[in-house]
Formats: sequence, structure tokens, C-alpha cells
Amino acid sequence: MVDFQGIINGINTTAAKTDNRGLCATYIPELAKVDLAKFGIHLINIQQQSFSSGDSDERFSIQSISKVFTLSMALGLVGEKLWQRVDVEPSGDPFNHLSLLEMENGIPRNPLINPGAIVVADILVSLLENPKEDFLAYVKNLANDDSIKYDEEVARSEKMTGFRNYAAANLLKSYKNLVNDVDTVLDFYFHQCSISMSCAQLANAFFMFINHGKCKKNNTFLTTRQVKRINSLMLTCGFYDEAGEFSFEVGLPGKSGVGGGIVALLPNKFCVATWSPGLNAKGNSKLGMLALERLTTQTELSIF
Ligand code: DON
Repeated sequence: MVDFQGIINGINTTAAKTDNRGLCATYIPELAKVDLAKFGIHLINIQQQSFSSGDSDERFSIQSISKVFTLSMALGLVGEKLWQRVDVEPSGDPFNHLSLLEMENGIPRNPLINPGAIVVADILVSLLENPKEDFLAYVKNLANDDSIKYDEEVARSEKMTGFRNYAAANLLKSYKNLVNDVDTVLDFYFHQCSISMSCAQLANAFFMFINHGKCKKNNTFLTTRQVKRINSLMLTCGFYDEAGEFSFEVGLPGKSGVGGGIVALLPNKFCVATWSPGLNAKGNSKLGMLALERLTTQTELSIF
């Protein structure tokens, strides 16, 4: 068997010695306060054995990683109809760009960029009785962990500076691709992004994406076909205009967030979460990407 623990320990040792760690996101003021020295990694294999190192139990803001959870919840609820309102093509643009949305008449390129995630949030706001409570309950169930919470400070902080997301939601509204009020949908969206989770909790919650839609407790959340769709979107769209580079270096589907988290996975084998709050110029965790490149190189395990 691959020595996951030995490899992960080595990755953590190298990370601890690295000075050039990128910069914390500053456009959400709460995120700028996070300690750049943090680094954590947690891997769970298909046999449900866990391996971790560093700050793997410390919670951080999952930000855009939440887009995978909202997508999976919405896809589970509405099925293939979802694709009438959001496309499945990579954008090649940063996560918050709006020019393609205008050119393509209000249909976002994919559900993992901000306008696409806002449409998915709108779908959940329409369908759920208590959207914020019900969505949080879904994430807790996936992770089999009742302690997961929204971070109200982070949600408030993003609301104060979320000008581009207001622009995206208003543009979607003008194209009739947003059913609910802009403020209601964005309140949900800012909350989903504000969820705090550790690497261990994220790796556990993503277990269903390596296990044909069944969580660690063996409850079914998605069909195998739906898991195929979400994993393929993570591969082609999970890192915005760095999706090609991530695939080239790491060779796994995954999703990043501006809180510095990344989750990546190899179906039927393992999923892994990393956290290092310093971001590169494209808004993805600098050390997280290096760590995952090292992991797939040293284990010789990737989808390719
Ligand atoms: O909407 C935003 O800008 C943030 N709540 C999420 C952005 C994000 O995490 C992009 N990811 N790399």
C-alpha cells in the first residue's frame, strides 16, 4: 500500500520551510486577518482510513468550496433541469468576471464561477423551506459532523464588500435567470461561502465524490451519473482560469476557495483537503497546489 502518512508528513515539513506563501485574500476583510503560517492536510482513502499532518483540524472559511455542496444539493433536488439555467463549460476567466455573462445572455458558463453559483443559490432558495438551515444540515450530514457552522462575521464582511456579486446577481435578474430577490439570494450565497470547516471535515464531506454518491455512513446523496457530472466540472472549472494548470500539475478534479482551502479527489481511491491561506495571483492556495502536485507525483496516483 502507498505510504500516505509518510508522504503527507514530508509535504508538511516542506511547507513549514517555505517562505514564499502567497498572500491572504484581502477583498473580504475578515479573511485578511488569517495567519499566513498555517498549513494543514488531511487525506481519507476509500477504505475510510485517515492520514493527516499540520493544522488539519483547524477550521477556516471554505468560501468557493461551498459551490460544490450547493451544486450537489441542487442537482439532487432538481436533476438535469438544472443545466437549463447554467452551462458546463470552463470560463477561462477569474471567478468574479462578468463579461461572459453579458455576452452569453445571462447563462453562466458553469456552476463553479460566482454567477453560476448565484443561480444555484437561487434554485435552493426557491426549493428549500428554510434555505440556510436546510443547506447547513445537508453539509453536516455529508460530513457526518454536527459541529459545522456559518461564520456570521465572515458573511457580514463579504456582504459589505460584495459589489461584484451584487453586479452579477442584478445582471442575472435582468436576463430573468434569477427568480428570487437579489438580497435574499446573496444573503444565502454569502452564508454558504462563510461556512468554517477543517481539512478533516472537508475530506470527510467529499467522500461521496469518490464513493459513487454514498457518504461515509453509506447513505446515498447522488447517483453515479450525478457524481460523474460534478467531478468533471471540478476538473474543468474548479480552479477558474487556473484549471488547466491545476490539471497539468496535479491531475485530479478539485475545488479551491479564497480562504486557502483546496479539496481534490481520485474516484474510488482517496480524497484530500489542504489549507494554506496564502493565495497565488489566480486566487488559489499557493502551498496547497504545490502540496497536491507533490502528493500525486510521489504516490503516482492521479486520474491520468
Ligand atoms: O464570492 C466571492 O468572491 C467569495 N465568497 C468566494 C470566492 C472564492 O472562493 C473563489 N475561489 N477561489
